Amino acid sequence: MALFVKKSRKGGSMKVAKVLVVLLTIALPLMAFAAIPETGKKAKTIDELAAKYDSSSCKTCHSEIYEQWDKSLHARPIFGPLESARTLGTIKNAITNGMMEWPYSGVKKKEDVQIRHLVTCTKCHLPQLVEAEDSVAQEIVKYMWAYIESGRTDKKAEEKLTKININCLICHNRNAMIHKWADGVVQNDTVYGSKDGSHASPDFPKLKRAPEMKEPTLCGQCHGLGPQFELDEPTQCATLYGYYLWNYKADGGAETCVECHMKKSGLGHNLQSYRSEVMRKMAIDLHVNASAYLWRDGTILTPLALVRAEIVNKAGHAFPDG
Ligand code: HEC
Ligand code: HEC
Ligand code: HEC
Ligand code: HEC
Ligand code: HEC
Repeated sequence: MALFVKKSRKGGSMKVAKVLVVLLTIALPLMAFAAIPETGKKAKTIDELAAKYDSSSCKTCHSEIYEQWDKSLHARPIFGPLESARTLGTIKNAITNGMMEWPYSGVKKKEDVQIRHLVTCTKCHLPQLVEAEDSVAQEIVKYMWAYIESGRTDKKAEEKLTKININCLICHNRNAMIHKWADGVVQNDTVYGSKDGSHASPDFPKLKRAPEMKEPTLCGQCHGLGPQFELDEPTQCATLYGYYLWNYKADGGAETCVECHMKKSGLGHNLQSYRSEVMRKMAIDLHVNASAYLWRDGTILTPLALVRAEIVNKAGHAFPDG
């Protein structure tokens, strides 16, 4: 036994030494290109925050996935659908009808809004915002007002407010490792997926398996369980992960978010709700049984119908949500 351990240790360290040499030769020239800068400094502008998680390079090789993602709301999570900008409008309402009216929020006018205020929404709508200074909160608020006051026509504001989003590097890097004590923290030069290996991208030369990439917990980080009690002012928005766990799973449901939304639907990274016809068809079974008859009341005959409708929810959770 002892001999075996010794042998394998020796073999192991030689292998490590070789790998180190190979890694150093590859890594040294690449270090200058590492795409997520490890400066520890917070972003001062929207552009700096967008640059920190810049996924535009992924488009070159994963163009189909990029186009799918671009159609989803993950590409515009503080804005909402382009035609309505409903999310932006609701965040603005949370500031004007909430924060500005509450006595202890510290917000009397829009110039008082800081990151800690926006976090009540961006904890899930834009988790990387905590890596920005209050100047970014101010910039977001400035463009938010400009866009809505322009009657939703201000293109520059639209561009700024949609360039920070839940992109490739949020799911495949920043938020990819959930159990950090067990699985480790994310590395800046690595994309996380289903296996370990090398990756053709010059900015992210490594590929690593994230154990929870296909698990509902990945989505559950933002598609919540209920109120966010850790916030000074708890909010509640998305609750589908809660429904998934306590209703669908508890009832014997076997599929995962990824299986229904990305695979069965055929939509891949274009994650959609009932607004997509494919999802609508997957959502309900509708059985209708109808019969017509005449109701006779004395000499008056009234035509009536008897309709029995059975609606079965086939989604992995309640709906609608949000
Ligand atoms: C130069 C081309 C290239 C670029 C740029 C590129 N990739 Fe890749 N990527 C690949 C190839 C090729 C594979 C397949 C590797 C394999 O199967 O061994 C891959 C695999 C992946 C996988 C793993 C899939 C799995 O099996 O789990 C993920 C995730 C991924 N890329 C994300 C990204 C992200 C995010 C970016 C942008 C930051 C990006 N890629 C940029 C070429 C590229
Ligand atoms: C909301 C989270 C999320 C975002 C955003 C996201 N991905 Fe993924 N991605 C996943 C999950 C989950 C899987 C595993 C799906 C599966 O196995 O079917 C996956 C799988 C992949 C794969 C490997 C499997 C395949 O479909 O070929 C690649 C490559 C990939 N993503 C690249 C990207 C790129 C590029 C972007 C940005 C345009 C992106 N992803 C954005 C969650 C995300
Ligand atoms: C980093 C946070 C985050 C992660 C991780 C995430 N989402 Fe989302 N997702 C959001 C936000 C925020 C929105 C809504 C944006 C809006 O309405 O403005 C959204 C929107 C959606 C929608 C569209 C809802 C609609 O009304 O059209 C679907 C479907 C969806 N996500 C499914 C998933 C699935 C499945 C996963 C896991 C593979 C996932 N999401 C991972 C934050 C996230
Ligand atoms: C059994 C299949 C199935 C599973 C499992 C499933 N979904 Fe869904 N989901 C659907 C269908 C079908 C819809 C369309 C109906 C609707 O909009 O609610 C949908 C809709 C949604 C929406 C849009 C809700 C709305 O009304 O705006 C979100 C967000 C979402 N799912 C996220 C998730 C997340 C996150 C998980 C995993 C925790 C998950 N789903 C698991 C089938 C599924
Ligand atoms: C727990 C994470 C989380 C928090 C906190 C959160 N949201 Fe959301 N929100 C989501 C997700 C995920 C979706 C999309 C999926 C869905 O509709 O279930 C969503 C959807 C929405 C929608 C679209 C609703 C619709 O009709 O489909 C609006 C608007 C919205 N959020 C505004 C806000 C505002 C404003 C705040 C802060 C006051 C906030 N959210 C806080 C996660 C969150």
